[in-house]
Amino acid sequence: MTGEALTESPDIQGLLFRGYKTLDHAAYGLFRIDDRRAFQTWLRRRVEREEIAPASQRQPEDAQAHRLNIAFTASGLETLLGSHWMPESFEPAFVEGMVRDHRSRLLGDVEANDPQHWRWGRTVDFDGLLIAFAPTRAEAEHLLAEHLCSANGASRVETLYGQRAKDGKEAFGFADGISQPVIEGTKRHRDRPEEARLHGVPAGEMILGYPDGSGRLPRSPATSAAADPAGHLVPHWEWPERRDLGRNGSYLVFRQLAQDTKGFWDYLSAAATEQGEGEDSAQALAEKMVGRRMNGTSMEPLPKSRSDENNLFDFINDEKGLYCPVGSHIRRSNPRATGTETAQKSLDVTLRHRILRRGRNYKDEARGEVGLQFLCFNASIARQFEFIQASWCNNQFFHGLQREVDPIIGTPRPAGNGLDSVDRYTIPRRPYRRLLAGLPSFVTVKGGGYFFMPAISALRCLAGAP
Ligand code: HEM
Repeated sequence: MTGEALTESPDIQGLLFRGYKTLDHAAYGLFRIDDRRAFQTWLRRRVEREEIAPASQRQPEDAQAHRLNIAFTASGLETLLGSHWMPESFEPAFVEGMVRDHRSRLLGDVEANDPQHWRWGRTVDFDGLLIAFAPTRAEAEHLLAEHLCSANGASRVETLYGQRAKDGKEAFGFADGISQPVIEGTKRHRDRPEEARLHGVPAGEMILGYPDGSGRLPRSPATSAAADPAGHLVPHWEWPERRDLGRNGSYLVFRQLAQDTKGFWDYLSAAATEQGEGEDSAQALAEKMVGRRMNGTSMEPLPKSRSDENNLFDFINDEKGLYCPVGSHIRRSNPRATGTETAQKSLDVTLRHRILRRGRNYKDEARGEVGLQFLCFNASIARQFEFIQASWCNNQFFHGLQREVDPIIGTPRPAGNGLDSVDRYTIPRRPYRRLLAGLPSFVTVKGGGYFFMPAISALRCLAGAP
């Protein structure tokens, strides 16, 4: 299947290719399956009526329209598949779940981010996630209430809400949702060669069942042929006697991230010089932390021919980070190409660690909290999301830096147990760098989980599994 056909696929769930931008509100329902048979009947009906939106359903124009997408945890798939559940065919991170001691250390889920403080996800007492997109929050909530009920064999464990910011900005005030991977073979990939060079990835980096950046097919979850008596699935490429449950699906990472906007701007106002102007104003320092201007443009002035594009840059001409600091959020989460000698090589490496972000802002009036419902898709949680989080964002020695982590999403650490603090931020400058000290964490994890978003054909199999 070509990249273009994938984006219109009736088999891939829509959220992979569509942000549903015309639907302002999202409700994320974490649910438990209480009655497997009743749930399977419900799921079969939803799929038959095309109510679990495939990518082929275009962006809704109709104000009344809504969209549903569904994903499962390991326990959910185990419940539905019973003896046909083959955990060894899934990625270990997914089967283990987000909360394990070693994983928490890896992800920086320590200190204030320690799962013991989370509101949800600390123990995985849910089997799946139903996401409803609708024009209003009440409608999104209504959809969850209608579908996740005892008559359908499911009960809701937790509901989270998300909202599309009309101005496209996240809670600190920065333009968000700009840099995304571009799937090879799509129209966008064809029409924009420079963007394709910098951000192009084979479909298999995001969707299972297609070659990834190594040229091989990514590992894909399997089930037995007996689990699929109606033959919805194709034979598994690795184990031909089994069926490919993963094809056209993707792993979904969900993290609820609270943003301390007051703390962020208070810290920056205090760090701003007395005049509070120019490169030492609070805004300029914040932009150096994120690695983009607040309006989304790149830190490095781009040639006139590219000035209307905000993602056509690498860091080849900015090796020392004089424009975009080496430790900034966007540079840590996608280091692009650096070093003229090794430019292509570093680009090739970073392209194997891209994620497709589908998050939305949230505002919890009752708690007086704002933040990001961070959602991303990848073909491998370990190689993509976890690698970014652990090896880049929370790596205190990233690119020769010391004692600092990502200033937006890293987990800083106070001194203790004979170890130095990890709480600095370096802004390279001539003749002297500007060093910010004593950074607190501005983003706190409130919950999270790993899910698998199956293809529509895999949902049919799950609904009919004996
Ligand atoms: C509340 C938490 C977060 C905030 C406020 C935030 C903010 C931003 C902003 C403002 C941008 C630049 C605009 C854009 O390209 O979309 C960005 C880019 C990005 N962020 Fe985050 N982010 C957060 C969490 C995360 C997490 C948890 C990850 C993954 C581990 C992540 C990965 C990325 C990536 C991959 C990019 C694109 C980098 C590039 O290609 O230039 N972000 N983020």
